[in-house]
Amino acid sequence: MNTELLSPTSEALARAGELLRAGEVVAFPTETVYGLGANALDAAAVEKIFAAKGRPGDNPLIVHIAEANDLAPLIACEPSARARALMDAFWPGPLTLIFPKSAAVPSRVTAGLDTVAVRMPEHPVAQALIRTSGVPIAAPSANRSGRPSPTTAADVLEDMAGRVPLILDGGPCRVGVESTVVDLKGDTPRVLRPGGVTRAQIEAVASACEVDHAVLHPLGDGEKPRSPGMKYKHYAPRGEVTVFRGKKAVENIIRRYDAAQNALILALEGNLPRYGSRRCLSLGPDAQSMAANLFHSLREADRMGAQTILCESVESVGVGLAVMNRLLRAAAFRVVDCED
Ligand code: TXA
Ligand code: MG
Repeated sequence: MNTELLSPTSEALARAGELLRAGEVVAFPTETVYGLGANALDAAAVEKIFAAKGRPGDNPLIVHIAEANDLAPLIACEPSARARALMDAFWPGPLTLIFPKSAAVPSRVTAGLDTVAVRMPEHPVAQALIRTSGVPIAAPSANRSGRPSPTTAADVLEDMAGRVPLILDGGPCRVGVESTVVDLKGDTPRVLRPGGVTRAQIEAVASACEVDHAVLHPLGDGEKPRSPGMKYKHYAPRGEVTVFRGKKAVENIIRRYDAAQNALILALEGNLPRYGSRRCLSLGPDAQSMAANLFHSLREADRMGAQTILCESVESVGVGLAVMNRLLRAAAFRVVDCED
């Protein structure tokens, strides 16, 4: 299959809409990461997403909508007052909410679950694509399963060339990590996957918010994840990633670097001078920029042929929680604590 890479002109959007209505898959930008979209109401089209990604069939997809009216046909009952408050506060934007699903949503989308994850992206190209196609779009991140999520069209092409007919190029993604996934089943909203909307932001609207234990910890043997996506190896480049935490992280990274071959350091901008002439990529000045740069840097590490990737960390608060959730998985929980 020939893969076209197009700027999101009105002609390109019309072509993408046609492809989606015809049951094909199109990659498109959102404010979080690039998505691999298909008509969410067409089980055969959704099947092509799983095939293109090599995604395990038991990992459900997020359904993307453009406006509030698009929600009702996807869900089994009226959203609760709390759900409505969160939607009013954060849609369009990087928040995914889980609802009981309606019969219209094929079980292929939800991997057999009786709930459906829905999000309203804010990115103008994603918005335009949903409106032009006239259908809700089921879309996971547009990476091959297990690889870092793509935050540029070139990253998508790297994984999807020959596997999808069209990639819309909307430039680099602003947020850089995926949406916050929130389960509203219990008494308190629960973050299953941290992302662009922070716990504090949710607390400000819903008065309380829990973060699932699995966000920062590996699942124990036989432990069942609340979100199927939590159990898979994720976001990993080919090089081996190790995360360094604590006051003496820089010194420890330098020691490890000097003992390794073909190593690469991912560092906060302010620490770069301390590494001298060692090979480094900057993650920018703070947690926000780290979120925006992390996935792209992990892919860049592969392009540079790095075998050992040594990465600094940030505090697990605010968007830093999303950064550490992705980084710990990319590192398969290889963490060095460097307090003294
Ligand atoms: O920002 C994003 O959310 C991006 C862009 C493209 O919108 N999409 C994305 O999709 O990250 P994906 O498929 O890579 O991640 C979806 C996550 C998975 O961890 C999945 O297990 C979880 O959402 N999920 C989906 N439906 C669910 C459900 N019904 N219950 C619990 N978790 C669900
Ligand atoms: Mg993904």
